[in-house]
Order: sequence, then C-alpha cells, then structure tokens
Amino acid sequence: MLVFALAGCSPEPQGVQPPVPPPPGQIPTNNNTVGSGTPEQTSATTATAVISPTKGNKVQGTLHFVQEEDGLHITGEITGLTPGKHGFHAHEKGDCSAPDASSAGGHFNPEGMPHGAEDAAKRHAGDFGNIIADQTGSAHIDKIDKIAKLSGKDSIIGRAIIIHKGADDLKSQPSGDAGARVACGVVSVEK
Ligand code: CU
Ligand code: ZN
Repeated sequence: MLVFALAGCSPEPQGVQPPVPPPPGQIPTNNNTVGSGTPEQTSATTATAVISPTKGNKVQGTLHFVQEEDGLHITGEITGLTPGKHGFHAHEKGDCSAPDASSAGGHFNPEGMPHGAEDAAKRHAGDFGNIIADQTGSAHIDKIDKIAKLSGKDSIIGRAIIIHKGADDLKSQPSGDAGARVACGVVSVEK
C-alpha cells in the first residue's frame, strides 16, 4: 500500500532513480519504525512527527512536513512550553528512547557545516532556529526551510525533531547552547 502510494505520487521532474523494490528475502520495513539510528534513504512529499515530552517535561504536539517548490513547509502546534524562545532542530538519529532524548544524537549535519541560524548560508541541515511560545506555553509553527528536505541526503525522514528548554543563540558551537531536550519526535512518512 505504502509502496504504491509513494511510487504513484512523485510529480517532481527531478530525474532521480525510480523506487527500488526491497531485495529478496528482506522484510519491507514500515517507515514509522522508531529507534533505528541510521534510517534508510526514504523519499516522500509529506511526513509527520508526533512530539512527546522527555522525562519531567510536558511539551508535546504534532508537526507536519510538506515538500514544496520553495522549500520544506513545517507546520504545527507545540504546547507545554515555557513562554519565549526554544531551540528547534532535526537531530541525527530517530531515537527518542533515552529519558533525556540524548539518544537522538547531535544536530543532523549531512554537509559537515557549522551550527547556524535557519537563514544562514552555512548551517546544519537540522538547524530550524527557534520556536516561540506565547504566555500560555503554546507555539504555533509555520515556516519554510530552505535546506532540509524529505528526500536525498538532506532528508529528515527517520531523524528526530528536538525541542529545547532554552533558546538557540544561533551561533554557539556545536548546537546553539539551547540546553536540555524537553521534547522529541521521529519524522515519519504518513499513511
Ligand atoms: Cu537540538
Ligand atoms: Zn545545529
């Protein structure tokens, strides 16, 4: 079902190779699998991340990702935050299993770049800057990212989205000094 859905809706004329069927004898894995540190190269046009709190926190929500002409459109609502800015990144490993989400590893950085602001020319592919929570602790997210994608080597599918306790200062190396990880969710292909 999923294979047909993916194969049947790839309108982008990008000249990439056609979908490759799984090798004989290998069980096709579900894209929602959580905890695989090195995701298969997976391509999609939409994805979702269900964000859950780390130990001792109550930050949660759902994020939607849509690959559009001008970038990766990220939308969603996150609640349970303290008011103000919170670092918002894609981390390397789609593994939120550790109580502090340390299992997600460092920032997703397939290009070997320094940490930076979301609009910087040189930044980690996972550097999405900050989200801003209002006085009720809710953050509304609606942004287009120019670097992260849902296919190819910059694909965040199977990576973790992390929300931090503090603000990303957009310059400290290697991760913006944003403090503890208060929530984590793996980017998964819908349906
Ligand atoms: Cu982070
Ligand atoms: Zn970074």
